[in-house]
Amino acid sequence: MVNLKGRDFLKLLDFTGEEIEYLLDLAADLKAKKKAGIPHRMHEGKNVALIFEKTSTRTRCSFEVGANDLGMGSTYLAEGSQIGKKESIADTARVLSGMYDGIEYRGYEQELVEELAKYASIPVWNGLTNEFHPTQILADFLTIKEQFGYLRGINFVYMGDARYNMGNSLMVGCAKMGINFTACAPKAYFPDCDLVDTCKKLAEENGCELKFIEDPMEAVKDANVIYTDVWVSMGEPMEVWQERINDLMPYQVNQKLMDAAADNVVFMHCLPAYHDHKTKVGKEIGERFNCDALEVTDEVFESERSIVFREAENRMHTIKAVMAATL
Ligand code: CP
Ligand code: NVA
Repeated sequence: MVNLKGRDFLKLLDFTGEEIEYLLDLAADLKAKKKAGIPHRMHEGKNVALIFEKTSTRTRCSFEVGANDLGMGSTYLAEGSQIGKKESIADTARVLSGMYDGIEYRGYEQELVEELAKYASIPVWNGLTNEFHPTQILADFLTIKEQFGYLRGINFVYMGDARYNMGNSLMVGCAKMGINFTACAPKAYFPDCDLVDTCKKLAEENGCELKFIEDPMEAVKDANVIYTDVWVSMGEPMEVWQERINDLMPYQVNQKLMDAAADNVVFMHCLPAYHDHKTKVGKEIGERFNCDALEVTDEVFESERSIVFREAENRMHTIKAVMAATL
């Protein structure tokens, strides 16, 4: 019987496949309750602190709506707080532990969220670091389960910068859940060797394969899911865009790539995505570097094979499940 009460949620490496499955089932149950209008105020009267050192739409809204649905209050802490400026992570952890029941943290290095958890006496949830984005993977896997009915044996292909938070976390999650994972990128963008070694062992235990392929057409053959992320992540300087565009344009998810995959292939993206030039930053990058689309074309993003908005909604149901299970 899985019991996650009191646990932190810092990275998927800390959880067994059974525990991840439990969170996915709980999220599906909470989603069904929400859709049916059945109240689930399981943590009435509790409060959570939400620390964001980087910007967010989905993660912040998911924690706030999830907390509210569970009967809890929440405090959003961004600019204007003392964290990391006048007050250390360790002191912040102990202060917030006296007032709240759980803490979400989005920031830079993974070691910061680990430090927060070390000093906090209440559960700490990772809302994204440079290295990992574990709550996103729960939403991705819930969406894949809804789409295909199962996870084990799915052929999952990640295109683009596979050495950052999304590539790392998806590789770990797939290896834990028996999903065949392919990272498709130039060699320099493959995940860190130590993490790959750890994941290869997990994959072997769980009966799935990990592949690292440079040729996009070869990688997507038989793919059920093609996934990508932005080529330049939050906190990285604008100057790296030119190099990323040069290196990663052959890995753009476009219709030709989708056509080369399995008939039932779906497109996924953690969002936000640069699929057109309708946003301020997207327009600026498009004009400055003279390109029509970046990691995904508008044609694929807007197609019926794209399940990105269900994936985004599932952020809320899965984050709610993490809070419900660990508090
Ligand atoms: N996918 C994701 O984490 O989105 P936000 O940056 O909007 O939270
Ligand atoms: N790799 C992206 C993920 C956003 C959800 C970033 O860190 O900006």
